[in-house]
Amino acid sequence: MARARAPQHPQQAGPRAGEGPVRSRVALRVNGRTYALDLDNRVTLLDALRELLDLTGSKKGCDHGQCGACTVLVDGRRANSCLLLAVTLDASEITTVEGLAASDGALSPLQEAFLEYDAFQCGYCTPGQLCSAVGMLREAAAGHPSCVTDAATAADTAHPAALTPEEIAERLSGNLCRCGAYNAITRAVAACAATEAPDQAPRRPRT
Ligand code: FES
Ligand code: FES
Repeated sequence: MARARAPQHPQQAGPRAGEGPVRSRVALRVNGRTYALDLDNRVTLLDALRELLDLTGSKKGCDHGQCGACTVLVDGRRANSCLLLAVTLDASEITTVEGLAASDGALSPLQEAFLEYDAFQCGYCTPGQLCSAVGMLREAAAGHPSCVTDAATAADTAHPAALTPEEIAERLSGNLCRCGAYNAITRAVAACAATEAPDQAPRRPRT
């Protein structure tokens, strides 16, 4: 006797025969510019950035939220762009690595620190490391504890935790570097945190 097929969940059903994928119009705000797009609803933010907007700084490593290479800032908070559907981001401000430098090409303090401390080898993870570090420095300045912050410091929301190498390593642990540039990345982020805010105006034009 033939077995009855289990009914499909509506979200698993997909388009019926003869129907195309569902599309939506969306206005994506990226690095201060608005892009009007007509998107398949299944397109991730990462694919929209890379394939439709030609912003290829954000990298596709795992495409599963495991490596951090695709990290961008969404409304100032770091996020894995491979896990976000572009169609859900109509009202959001997105910043990619291309948006960290000033419009005249002047690097941000964090980018300068990455250069100064040799915080990359192949550079594949670097865009995600930079965006993640910008978000992490904001979180730390706002008093967000990490899982290595001791309980007394975490409870004292008026005084953010000191960004020790252990704190930085933990807070950036979602960003993998296959070349093993972790020590230099940690030193660069620590130097930036010690001297100035990551959002501060860039210092010198790129030559
Ligand atoms: S590509 Fe998004 S986390 Fe790896
Ligand atoms: S510098 Fe190569 S993966 Fe990080």
